[in-house]
Amino acid sequence: VLTIERAALEGLSALLLERAGLRVAADGFHGLRLALQERMPALGLTDAEEYVRRLRAPGGEPELRSLLPLVTVTHTEFFRDPRQFGALERRLLPEALARARRDHRQVRLWSAGCATGEEPFSLAMLLEECGASPAEVDLWATDLNQAAVESARQGRYSRRRAAQVGPARLERFFRPAGEGYQVIPSLRARVRFEGLNLAAPGPGQVEPESFDVILCRNVIIYFDLATIRRLMDRFFSALRPGGFLVLGYSESLFRVYDRFEMVEVEGAFLYRRPRTEAPAPRRPPAPRVTGEFPVVVPVRPPVAAAAPPVAAPRAPRVAAPTPASVSPERRQAPQVRLAEAARMTQEGQFEEAARALQHLLRDEPHELSARLALGNVWSVMGRAQEAQRVFDEVFEDEPFCVEARVYGAMAQMQVGRFAQAHGELGKALFLEPTLALAHYLAAQVSERLGDREGARRAYRNAIAQLRFPQRALAGFYPDMPDSAELISRAARYALSALEEA
Ligand SMILES: C[S@@+](CC[C@H](N)C(=O)[O-])C[C@H]1O[C@@H](n2cnc3c(N)ncnc32)[C@H](O)[C@@H]1O
Repeated sequence: VLTIERAALEGLSALLLERAGLRVAADGFHGLRLALQERMPALGLTDAEEYVRRLRAPGGEPELRSLLPLVTVTHTEFFRDPRQFGALERRLLPEALARARRDHRQVRLWSAGCATGEEPFSLAMLLEECGASPAEVDLWATDLNQAAVESARQGRYSRRRAAQVGPARLERFFRPAGEGYQVIPSLRARVRFEGLNLAAPGPGQVEPESFDVILCRNVIIYFDLATIRRLMDRFFSALRPGGFLVLGYSESLFRVYDRFEMVEVEGAFLYRRPRTEAPAPRRPPAPRVTGEFPVVVPVRPPVAAAAPPVAAPRAPRVAAPTPASVSPERRQAPQVRLAEAARMTQEGQFEEAARALQHLLRDEPHELSARLALGNVWSVMGRAQEAQRVFDEVFEDEPFCVEARVYGAMAQMQVGRFAQAHGELGKALFLEPTLALAHYLAAQVSERLGDREGARRAYRNAIAQLRFPQRALAGFYPDMPDSAELISRAARYALSALEEA
């Protein structure tokens, strides 16, 4: 067994950062050690520092290329992420094709970090299906890992892997080959495969404003912040105005890069280069200030009782203000009325709370906290559809409202729709990955879905996010763990219960 000193691992980690933008923290050193144990004997070396020196020396490139596949993940699948591929199939590709035809030019697509080719071949199948001729499209697929690129060019896949495309596409785009399948030559010819290091591409390789869509999914997770920002600048410049960047679901640019605008297309969150530089790109709303809606509510005399009776609170869409009737509530500040409604909700007086919130919303139709609180009242009453209608209305005004996603998930959980709740929490976390509460809830949902490993991961994530300042959510939900301390305690408790089980 080789002894590999920590200093050598630190040197290697610095070199990977410098040459490939890869961020390997100390908890990933075990992986580096395994990779060295495989590569050093191949070069007849026993000294890890010498190995790192060789990598650094002129002519070290080929060895770096042999090492990289051992320290990066190449896992990929055909049509990985149905939501994103749904958006590509139904909107992005047909629309890009129509625009390109109108402008008498090619559609240009780039699968950046294509691994063994499943992603670009998925795109190629969709293009074929939407009637794009090979001459109309330039589909470029690149990866740092030369072995992966070579394997992608061959287009050979195991039976299990190829079966991911479904029987109709398997029949149309693949032929049996040996133990598995091979992509048919005409589809292979649609993709231009090339080796390319996204952390340090050569100058002039990418023409500005030339791409309609860039996919870079599940690649930047390994990059350090500086490399991500440089890469995003290059993607931004490479995209046409209005062009799309598709990142992996855990790769949000929240607080990382803000020149792209975020858009939701067919349920998938995507980034888009704005058509014009001004006005400023639309961004998710800045986190609201903590304490917007206190959970410990000041107890006031029950003024709602004095309000005129209102119709049963069925439709949460807010009616036009009633100018003539000035109820006692109207003389109070919205925050006070909200606190009162929160108290009622907390005490289980749901009908009363809903009425109070509806009154408030007649006077202040855009009061976000009141809208969310009303959705939550319907939610705890198990009226998930009404709750969802309120949250959908919020999305019309604030498409990136994280609270409406989190509370929407709670409403789905209330009625046992855990898969939908999981989807909503995924979106909330895409918008605000540091929100510990959303990780915590995602963990609970995973537990209910029987995914114990996912639950463990999400509880750990919840705890890890607590190193970032946590904000209070707008709106009120009874008994929600709302402080870092409560979330941490709840997550640790749940985690230890899971580990014991
Ligand atoms: C997990 S795979 C993702 C494949 C595909 N995009 C998907 O989402 O299914 C990550 C790929 O990124 C590639 N990669 C990592 N660092 C890279 C770099 N600096 N430049 C180019 N590709 C890189 C790896 O070689 C690997 O093939």
